[in-house]
Amino acid sequence: MKLAITGKGGVGKTTLTALLAQTYADASRDVLAVDADPSPCLAGALGFPPELRAQLRPIAEMDELIEERTGAKPGTVGGFFTLNPRVDDIPERFSVVHRGVRLLEMGSVDIGGSGCICPESAMLKTLFTHLLFRKDDILLLDMYAGVEHLGRATVDFVDAMLVVVEPTRRSLGTAAQIKKLANDIGLQRLYLVGNKVRNDDEAQFLEQETPDIPLIGWLPADLKVQEADRLGIPVYDHVESLKFAVKRIAGALNELTSDEIIE
Ligand SMILES: Nc1ncnc2c1ncn2[C@@H]1O[C@H](COP(=O)(O)OP(=O)(O)O)[C@@H](O)[C@H]1O
Ligand SMILES: [Mg+2]
Repeated sequence: MKLAITGKGGVGKTTLTALLAQTYADASRDVLAVDADPSPCLAGALGFPPELRAQLRPIAEMDELIEERTGAKPGTVGGFFTLNPRVDDIPERFSVVHRGVRLLEMGSVDIGGSGCICPESAMLKTLFTHLLFRKDDILLLDMYAGVEHLGRATVDFVDAMLVVVEPTRRSLGTAAQIKKLANDIGLQRLYLVGNKVRNDDEAQFLEQETPDIPLIGWLPADLKVQEADRLGIPVYDHVESLKFAVKRIAGALNELTSDEIIE
């Protein structure tokens, strides 16, 4: 199952990605989690110990690797470089594993090709497509950037795109924009996930005001989320209410995408 997690900054994409990753890993699934945030923080949310985090570096920042694979130094404009560098060894070589979750940091990714035609974007674009083609059991993409950056491969291979929202009109407005952009590129399988929901009224608000994206579940607001961050403990371990809620979301996702899993 391949899932892209999107939404406005600060809504809880990384929190949800970390929770889903650990839920699936604890259910003995093989999980590859990809952090596509220019300032990565999924390792922290997953509680990766410092010695493992020290081994991680976003691929986007690996100048030597990018030069070796593309034939040109990052930052160069013009000149020749390969548009489809070798990337098949990268997910294993540059990721680290903790408690059953394999984590790869991409760094800033502009995969739609709208940005510069430069060695680093060729590298990241090829790597991203490669990840989508791979036969990973569970692939979770913590997207950061908006869907305008997503290309054809995403549409073809992502089983579902999760749009994380807070129970506010503003957040739902962003979700509506994401839906439009996703639909424009042909991506239809979108699901809304509420976060920081304080009561039933707020859950109902999401249900009623969704921009026509099915709500598959929500995570409660819980002050212990910040506490977990302060203590450096994963939310999954520290916040019972979210661990419980995400199990239901994972279950719903399994059902919704079961066709893809069987084939
Ligand atoms: N359910 C929740 N209850 C309380 N705070 C939350 C919850 N989910 C996320 N947060 C807090 O909101 C902030 C943003 O979360 P994060 O997952 O980093 O969002 P994003 O990846 O979308 O930018 C963090 O400070 C996090 O601790
Ligand atoms: Mg994030």
